[in-house]
Amino acid sequence: MLDKYKREINYLRVSITDRCNLRCVYCMPKEGLSLIGHDDILKYEEMLRIVRIARKLGIVKVRVTGGEPLVRRGVADFLAELGTLGLEDISLTTNGILLETFAERIRSAGVGRVNVSLDSLDPQRYARITRGGDLAAVLRGLEQAERVGFSPIKINVVTVKDFNDDETVSFARLTLEKPYEVRFIELMPIGGEKGSDDKYVSNDELMERIGRVGSLHPVESAGGRQTFGGPARRFRLVGARGVIGFISPISHNFCHACNRLRLTADGGLRACLMIDGEIDLKGPMRKGCSDEELEQLIRQAVMSKPRGQCTDAAAEDRSRRKCAREMSTIGG
Ligand code: GTP
Ligand code: 5AD
Ligand code: SF4
Repeated sequence: MLDKYKREINYLRVSITDRCNLRCVYCMPKEGLSLIGHDDILKYEEMLRIVRIARKLGIVKVRVTGGEPLVRRGVADFLAELGTLGLEDISLTTNGILLETFAERIRSAGVGRVNVSLDSLDPQRYARITRGGDLAAVLRGLEQAERVGFSPIKINVVTVKDFNDDETVSFARLTLEKPYEVRFIELMPIGGEKGSDDKYVSNDELMERIGRVGSLHPVESAGGRQTFGGPARRFRLVGARGVIGFISPISHNFCHACNRLRLTADGGLRACLMIDGEIDLKGPMRKGCSDEELEQLIRQAVMSKPRGQCTDAAAEDRSRRKCAREMSTIGG
C-alpha cells in the first residue's frame, strides 16, 4: 500500500498487551498505569484476522510488541498461528526478562529475530531504571536467544541523561565480542515521568564519545530491501562481531522513509507513533463487520498517515509534541 506521500507501508507492529513485568522510568509512571480492561484487549483471533487482511494489502513484516509481549498468556501459540500466515518477517520486541524461558518455543513458532530492550549493563542501575528488573535474567535470555539461532539479535538502549549516558562506550564495546546490533535510541517525549524532556541526549553526542575510543565504519542497511533496514544508521567498530546502530527520531527525523502502522492492544490502528489519531478496528469487528469493511478501514488508516512526527521542529520545542498515549500501550 502506498500512502499519500508515496511511502510503501509494509510493516505492522502489533502490541498484544499493555501489561509489563517492568516499570522503566521513561516508559511508565511509578504507580503504574491504568491498564486496559480484559474485555477491551483484542483476542488473538481478532489480531490474526487483522494481520491476515493486512497481508493481502501488502503488509509483509510484523513485529509483536507490548507492554511486554511475553507476559500475555498463550503468546507462543499466537506466534505459531502468525507463522502460518505467509509473512516474510516476524519479529518480537521484548525486555528479555522471560526470554530464557521462551526463546526456544518462539523460535520454533517462526519468529526469526528479537529486539531486546536493555538500558544498563550494571545490575544495580538496571534495577533502578526498570524499577526492580533482574539484569542477570536478561543476559541469560540473550545467551539463550543466540543459542537457539535468532539472528540478528538487537539490543535497544534508550539513552537517559545522567542515568545511563555514561555507559555508551561499554555498550559499544559489547559489539566487539558479541554478534549483537546495539542500537542507541534517542529519548522521545512519550509517557514516563514528567520532566523527562531534559533527559535527552542526542546520538551525535554519543557517536562522538564512541569515536574517541574507536572509529565507526558505516555498514549497509540490513536486509537488502531498504524498507527492512528500519530507521537505524549503522556502523561497525574495527574487528567487531556486532554492529552499532543509532535511532535518532529527534535529531535525524526518518519519517520520510516510514513504512509502518501500529495496532494497539485495544484494537486501534495508529498511523504514527508520535501523532495521536487512531482508527478503531475493534468496535466494527465486534459488531460483525465484513473483511471488506475491515480492509477499507486499514486503507483509511494508511491514507490518514501524516507526513511526519514534526520532529523537524522538535529541537525547538519538544514539550509541545508529547503524545497522549503511553509508550507501553503503543509498543514503541
Ligand atoms: P527492526 O528495524 O525491524 O529491527 O525494528 P524496529 O527498530 O522498528 O523495532 P524496535 O521495536 O526495536 O524499535 C526501536 C525503537 O525505534 C522504537 O521503540 C522507537 O523508539 C523507535 N522507532 C521505531 N519506529 C519509529 C517510528 O516510526 N517513529 C519514531 N519516532 N520512532 C520509531
Ligand atoms: N523514547 C524512546 N524509546 C522508548 N522506548 C520506550 N519508551 C521510549 C521513549 N520515551 C523503547 C523501549 C523499547 C522500544 C519498544 O521502545 O526501550 O526498546
Ligand atoms: Fe516495559 Fe518496555 Fe515500558 Fe520498559 S519500556 S516498562 S520494558 S513496556
